[in-house]
Amino acid sequence: MKETTKITSGPIGIFDSGYGGLTILREIQQAMPQYDYIYLGDNARAPYGTRSFDIVYQFTLEAVKYLFDQGCQLVILACNTASAKALRTIQQNDLPGIDPSRRVLGIIRPTVELLGNLSQNGNIGILGTPGTVQSRSYDMETAKLHPSFNVYSQACPMWVPLVENNEADAPGADYFVKKYIDALFTQQADIDTVILACTHYPILFDKIRQFTPDTAQVITQGEIIAHSLRDYLNLHPEMDERCTRGGNTRYLTTENADKFTEMASLFLNRPIYATQISLKHNA
Ligand code: DGL
Repeated sequence: MKETTKITSGPIGIFDSGYGGLTILREIQQAMPQYDYIYLGDNARAPYGTRSFDIVYQFTLEAVKYLFDQGCQLVILACNTASAKALRTIQQNDLPGIDPSRRVLGIIRPTVELLGNLSQNGNIGILGTPGTVQSRSYDMETAKLHPSFNVYSQACPMWVPLVENNEADAPGADYFVKKYIDALFTQQADIDTVILACTHYPILFDKIRQFTPDTAQVITQGEIIAHSLRDYLNLHPEMDERCTRGGNTRYLTTENADKFTEMASLFLNRPIYATQISLKHNA
């Protein structure tokens, strides 16, 4: 049997199916540059948004275990689809057996917590992947925290492929951006707050803003998650002490490292270097 020494401190792990979580990471790094981070994008198996509950759960668990093996004590699922389909099961069923002192946090609850400050009329639009929309996670969390609010959701299956294939700025993207926004506002014209409930969507922000009625604000999650993580670490000094502070970030991808390096540098507006890893043996 393999001897294992328990690791008790390490970088904060940030996981996404692909590049989208970089929109969360960059806000977290800006708010808290002192910590070490490991970003893991499962680009080889993205998109997750059209995959079944079981597959998203299995892939996400593999990623969490990998990040734990790298020493991460705290992992953020910077992916709404993984937060919607895998977070609860990992927290309730897997974590107790793996290491009950480690934490995995998602990004749906902190986003919904803020809705009360954002919306005046309580009509909320959610734009997300088919997986996030079908899970009804935003509807359920909103019903708990803001029972008088109405949630209108629209799945946008073409948006992640546009981003992952670096076509977000192409003129052809306009058609698909307008199509899903029109479909959302056909459900309810009086939405005053639209949440981009997929971490890939901020890359399409300018186009989304262009086709959204001026009466609605368009909200991205990066800053919300950065503030919520800061609050979490303030409230949990025992976890804060276990997050190492060296100001370094490692970038890992399950796809080709050169491709990730090139795309991620575009997302972050600065050069980064990625390493390719494999998650399969971790299943
Ligand atoms: N970025 C992910 C999210 O926030 C999903 C993208 C995908 O479909 O893989 O939902």
